[in-house]
Amino acid sequence: MIHTYIANIKNLPDPKTDSGYLLLLDEERQKRVLRFLREESRKQSLGAGILLQKALKKHGMENSKITFSKNGKPKTDGIFFNLSHSGEFVVCSIGDKDVGCDIEKAEKERFSVAQRFFTKNENEYLDSFEGEEKKREFFRLWTLKESYMKLTGEGFSLKLSDFEISFDNGIFVMRENEKCNVHFKEFLLGGYALSVCSYDDKFSSLELIDF
Ligand SMILES: CC(C)(COP(=O)(O)OP(=O)(O)OC[C@H]1O[C@@H](n2cnc3c(N)ncnc32)[C@H](O)[C@@H]1OP(=O)(O)O)[C@@H](O)C(=O)NCCC(=O)NCCS
Repeated sequence: MIHTYIANIKNLPDPKTDSGYLLLLDEERQKRVLRFLREESRKQSLGAGILLQKALKKHGMENSKITFSKNGKPKTDGIFFNLSHSGEFVVCSIGDKDVGCDIEKAEKERFSVAQRFFTKNENEYLDSFEGEEKKREFFRLWTLKESYMKLTGEGFSLKLSDFEISFDNGIFVMRENEKCNVHFKEFLLGGYALSVCSYDDKFSSLELIDF
């Protein structure tokens, strides 16, 4: 089962001027948090660190050592997780099988990005919508694609056009003409798109965590 936790970072203090929460995190995350020039990015990184700690604790994995795969995916022994942040929210998906998650604030849609980097079928799918619906589908597709890239850990070392999201009685990934054995869960949030992708086909509902 994949569990997904979400937290709002709005009320977190800026870790640059208030180190209360920061000191709860490991040295590596502390350094990363303070490297950001923008306050929102510092708070997102701080929030992701705290949310991960809370999620690991809930799953009996307190004080786990975090290491990184070759493309930068954080991992630990004994459980799988992934983090994402956008705007006011940080998200952590965690479970017994590998997972990727992606949240995006649905601000300005970038159809030019879709035209350049999405596949022909994905663009045809988008073009079957108009106005607000088209914008909603753009952010759905974007987070579905990114959650898959984060599941495999390839991140943006994988080209957006190297695989395709297809909707046909469900959501599938086609890669090199093969259907991949991955599963998706989407969560509806006002103004944000959130997708989770895993080798597990069981997902729990979204759980809000307070800091
Ligand atoms: C991972 C990646 C897709 C993140 O996209 P994003 O929309 O900017 O950011 P998100 O908020 O959704 O996710 C960020 C989180 O993803 C996780 N992450 C980082 N690299 C990852 C990867 N390769 N796979 C999965 N998750 C990754 C981290 O936990 C990160 O949060 P943190 O820095 O606070 O710990 C993108 O940064 C990327 O492709 N990174 C890898 C770069 C790479 O391939 N380098 C190799 C050079 S060839």
